Amino acid sequence: MTADAKILSALRGAGGTGLSPAMLTERTGLGAVALARRITELRALGYDIESTPHLGYRLLGSPDVLHADDLLARLPARRIVGRDVQVFQQTSSTNDVAEKLARDGVAEGVVIFAETQTKGRGRLGRKWLSPTGQGLWFSVLLRPALSPVSITQLTVAAATAVARAIRLETGLVPQIKWPNDILLGGKKVVGILTELSAELDRVRYVIIGIGVDVNVTDFPAELRDVATSLAAEAGKRFLRAEIAAAILRELDADYARVVRGEFAALAEEWERQCITLGRRVVIHIGDRKLTGRAEALDSDGALLLRGDYGHLERIIGGDVTLEK
Ligand code: BTN
Repeated sequence: MTADAKILSALRGAGGTGLSPAMLTERTGLGAVALARRITELRALGYDIESTPHLGYRLLGSPDVLHADDLLARLPARRIVGRDVQVFQQTSSTNDVAEKLARDGVAEGVVIFAETQTKGRGRLGRKWLSPTGQGLWFSVLLRPALSPVSITQLTVAAATAVARAIRLETGLVPQIKWPNDILLGGKKVVGILTELSAELDRVRYVIIGIGVDVNVTDFPAELRDVATSLAAEAGKRFLRAEIAAAILRELDADYARVVRGEFAALAEEWERQCITLGRRVVIHIGDRKLTGRAEALDSDGALLLRGDYGHLERIIGGDVTLEK
């Protein structure tokens, strides 16, 4: 852990009680001079750190910026997802940065955040808007020992983890539209883009790109009816670092489940929140249009569609519209 991560984690752990300078140097292993210097820097970044003779140091507030050390300080010690966290002010797409790291052989678990993306992309070649400082735009690099056909398991795991984190942090109740759109009140609040590099029977790496509209209030006209944000639904703003850390913690737990072969339990949780299953749907896959009833998930997370002539089709991608 870096010095800043140690300080923030110690202060958060102490809560309202505060820590004397002696206790804070002991908990962080920093000397008094280094500690004072880091506290000045953290205050300059917007952290409201009080110091009084009576209570010592107390963390009264955190700014709504993404600071890698702050994110690291909010994660459990043993983890894969969030092993390393990097924050960029601006990138083309965080998936591009993660892909470059993947090609350079970087170990799995690294997470790349950007305050804004100039070329954020969504599924099916769509654009993804990433207004500065208003949402979470990030990508996670994973190297699972899964065959390429099972990769939908990770997509399902990611959607389940993000939905759970949103429930825990905001009290809002998200729904999931297959494969991995997260909706609030029928409008999309999170998009997930899974990109993979694989050989026939082996996955080299997977990049899970996640976009969460946290505090976005001003959607362009064409998105207003279909997109929403956590802030718009809850009627209050959220501290993005808190939401980000909760998502990474849940993602780490669910990734571990997939790796241990415990996908079935995750799929059950996914199904409970899914608005697609049991409904009549239209699915566009390239030029193909399929209609039928979304029946179930299979053991690899693919959607089983009962077509209009009674046959069962296994769907691993595409654009799903729910029929009224
Ligand atoms: C979709 O619903 O179409 C998927 C949207 C995924 C957006 C995220 S934002 C972070 C990462 N970087 C990107 O360029 N896309 C994903």
